[in-house]
Amino acid sequence: MKHEIFEHDIIIVGAGGAGLRAAIAAAEHAEHLSIALISKVYPMRSHTVSAEGGAAGVMRDNDSEDTHAKDTIFGSDFLADQDAVEILVREAPGELIQLEHWGCPWSRDPDGRISVRPFGGMTVNRTVFAADKTGFHMLHALFQTSLKYDAIVRYDECFVTSLLTDDGRVRGVTNLNLYTGKVQIVMAKSVIICTGGGGRAFPFTTNAAIKTGDGMALAYRAGVGLKDMEFVQYHPTGLPGTGILITEASRGEGGWLINKHGHRYLQDYGLGPATDTPTHRKMELGPRDILSRCHMQEHQKGNTFEGPYGHYLHLDLRHLGEELIDSKLPFVRELTRNYVGIDPVVDPIPVRPVVHYMMGGIHTDTDGKTSLEGLYAAGECACVSINGANRLGSNSLTELLVFGARAGRSAAEFALNQPSPLKSPIDLLAGDEQKRLDDNFLKKEGGTEKVAGLRQEMQIAMEDGVGIYRNEGDMRKTCDTLQSLRERFANIRIEDDTSIFNTERTVALELDFTLDVAETIANSALQRTESRGSHNRIDYPERDDENYLKHSLAFRAPGGPPKIEHFPVTITRWEPEERKY
Ligand code: FUM
Repeated sequence: MKHEIFEHDIIIVGAGGAGLRAAIAAAEHAEHLSIALISKVYPMRSHTVSAEGGAAGVMRDNDSEDTHAKDTIFGSDFLADQDAVEILVREAPGELIQLEHWGCPWSRDPDGRISVRPFGGMTVNRTVFAADKTGFHMLHALFQTSLKYDAIVRYDECFVTSLLTDDGRVRGVTNLNLYTGKVQIVMAKSVIICTGGGGRAFPFTTNAAIKTGDGMALAYRAGVGLKDMEFVQYHPTGLPGTGILITEASRGEGGWLINKHGHRYLQDYGLGPATDTPTHRKMELGPRDILSRCHMQEHQKGNTFEGPYGHYLHLDLRHLGEELIDSKLPFVRELTRNYVGIDPVVDPIPVRPVVHYMMGGIHTDTDGKTSLEGLYAAGECACVSINGANRLGSNSLTELLVFGARAGRSAAEFALNQPSPLKSPIDLLAGDEQKRLDDNFLKKEGGTEKVAGLRQEMQIAMEDGVGIYRNEGDMRKTCDTLQSLRERFANIRIEDDTSIFNTERTVALELDFTLDVAETIANSALQRTESRGSHNRIDYPERDDENYLKHSLAFRAPGGPPKIEHFPVTITRWEPEERKY
C-alpha cells in the first residue's frame, strides 16, 4: 500500500507543555528547520491543561538554587541524578519569567512581585502559580506562542503508532490520522517524544483518559530502556470515584487533613506539630509518598470514612474562608461543587490517594537524548532523572519547561547536521507497520476479548500488586496477570469497522501501549528488593543504598517479561542521608 509521506527536520510527538516548549526552542534554534508537532488531541486538550498548584523555581532572596536542589534530592530519596537537578534549579527561574513574557498570568502579591506559595517537601515558598489553574494558563501561553512560528506544522488528532528505525537510528514515525483513518508516514532527522505519563494503567488516577503511556511504549519497542519505572506517585488528595486532583495548594494555603474522628492524624506519624498555619515539610506539607502511606495506615486503623467508592478522609478548607478560597483556590471550589456536590467553604472534601505521576520513563541524558540516535524525550514520559523515587509537587511543570527546551535545542542541533532520510527503507518499514495495524486493529476480524474488560483487569492487577504497599507475592501475581493479558490481547474484538474517529480502535491501540508500560512497572518493582520513596515493600522495609542506590532500566524482551538492568545514580554534592521530615 502506498502511504502519504510528509517530510520535516524534526518530529515532536505530543503537544502538551513539554512538546510545545520543545517546538518553540527548536524553532528559535534555527529558523529554517521544519518541525512537525503531532498530537492525538488538539494541543489545548493535552493533560498539562489540568495541572493546578504551580511550578517551582527560586524567585526570592530567602531561597537559593542549592536549597531547591537539596529539597528535590532529599524528596527523591536520593535517587535523583544530581547533575540533572542542578540544571533544573539553575534554569527554572529563567523559564518561568520567559513564560510570563509569553503571556502566562502568574498570580502576584500586592507589592507586584510574582507570588510564591508553600508546597509539599519544600523548605521555603517557591511555587509560582496562576491561582489553581496553573497548567491551563501555562499551556495557553505556550500554545499561543507556538502559533507565531511558521516552521511548526501541526498534525492534530493523529496517533503515532510506531517509530521508524533503520540502521541504528530513528527516521520518522507512522501516524494514524484519526479523522481519515489512514496511516501516514512522517519522516525526519530527529524525533522528540513528549507524550506524558501513563497513569491510566491504574484504576484511580488524576490522569486524563489520554494518558496511556504511548510514548514510553514507542521508545521501549524501539529498544530504548525505560528507567525507574517502579516509582509511581500517589497524590494523597484525589476525589474518590473520579480521581480528579484536589491540588496540594489547598494544603499549601492552610488546608487540614482530618480523619473520621475530626483529628489531624498526620501528627501521629512524626509529621507534627499540628500548627494553625502551614509549616514547611510538616503535617499537610509533608511529601506525597509519606502522606499517601499515612492515609493507608489510617484506613488499617479504622479511622477512614467508607463511601460508595471505598475509603476516604477529609480535606478541610472551611477555616480558610470564602475570600481566600475564591482568590487562590477557585478551581477547587468549582471541581468539588460540580463533581461531589459540596461547597468547600462549608463542607470538608472527601479525598483518597490516587495515582498521579510516573517518576520513571524513557532513559535520557540532560539534553533529552536517548540511546537511539536521533531520538529525544522530555516531560513526564522521560526520566532525566530529577524526581528519583518521589517527585516533589510543582517540580514537574518546571521540568517540562527546562528539559523540553533543552531537548528541543539538542534535537534541532542534531537535525542541522544530518542528511534527509532515504525513502526506500522507510516505505518497507511502513509496509510492515501497516500490516501489523491491519491484522491487529484496522481490519481485525473475529476475536472475543473486550478491550474495556482487559483494561479493567490490568488496572485492578496494578493496584493490587504495585500500589502504595507492595510485596513479592502480590507483585509476582501482577506480573503473571499482565503476561496473560498480553496473550489475551491478541484475541481482542473490534466491532466498529468505520474509519473516521473510530474511538474503539484508538482505545485498543492505547491499551496495547499501556500493557507494555504496566509490565515494566511491575517487573522493575519486583526486582528492587528495598523500600525507597514511592516504592514501599513490606517484605523489604528499609532503604538499601549498598545495593540499590541505582536506577533500574527495563528493556523489552519479546514473548517474555522485560529484562531489568541497574546502574548507579549520579551524585555531585549531596551525600545520601536518612530521609526524615
Ligand atoms: O497538587 C497539585 O497541584 C499537583 C502538582 C504537581 O503534581 O506538581
